[in-house]
Amino acid sequence: MNLESVESEIDRIVVSETDLKNRLQELADQVTEDFKGRDLLLIGVLKGAAMAMADMARMINLHLEMDWMAVSSYGAGTKSSGVVRILKDLDKDITGREILIVEDILDTGLTLSWLKSNLESRGAKSVEILTVLRKPTEAKVKVDAKYVGFDIPAEFVVGYGLDYNEKYRNLPFIAVLAKHMYM
Ligand code: IMP
Ligand code: MG
Repeated sequence: MNLESVESEIDRIVVSETDLKNRLQELADQVTEDFKGRDLLLIGVLKGAAMAMADMARMINLHLEMDWMAVSSYGAGTKSSGVVRILKDLDKDITGREILIVEDILDTGLTLSWLKSNLESRGAKSVEILTVLRKPTEAKVKVDAKYVGFDIPAEFVVGYGLDYNEKYRNLPFIAVLAKHMYM
């Protein structure tokens, strides 16, 4: 969906489509380099990481496998609850696997910190994190993300997988949602 269609609903664009594409290509090149000769499993966190997974997987020049998990950390609102629940689990056993988690955003860190230890406790050989966005000022727990697209201010953003009440995921850019949309 294009900018014209949501112009009155957003405040401003934070990351343009071009900047997203260029930065993800840089990260993909790094991943290609770092995982050369290793057996890479991308784990996408549904639904927010769907776009990033689809784009990253095609930009990484390695054989890889893709699996998906769905966890809930947010309700219908815009604040993190800290409660993580598995809504959809992995299809395959991950014992001994080298994993790269693909996420849309690292906010409080509660979700990714929980997910990383969960995957490690199942016997993964290594677990790294790639996140498209990070809100550094919102961190409640320390999470080491090896690959970070953009650090952004602590505002509620939508687009490129990120939703507000399930909408806006299909924007090709990332934008701050206008306050009048949720206040
Ligand atoms: P965390 O556990 O606080 O790090 O939250 C991570 C999850 O919260 C992400 O996977 C998103 O689904 C959601 N989230 C955090 N910030 C935003 C935002 O600005 N817009 C939309 N979703 C967000
Ligand atoms: Mg998410």
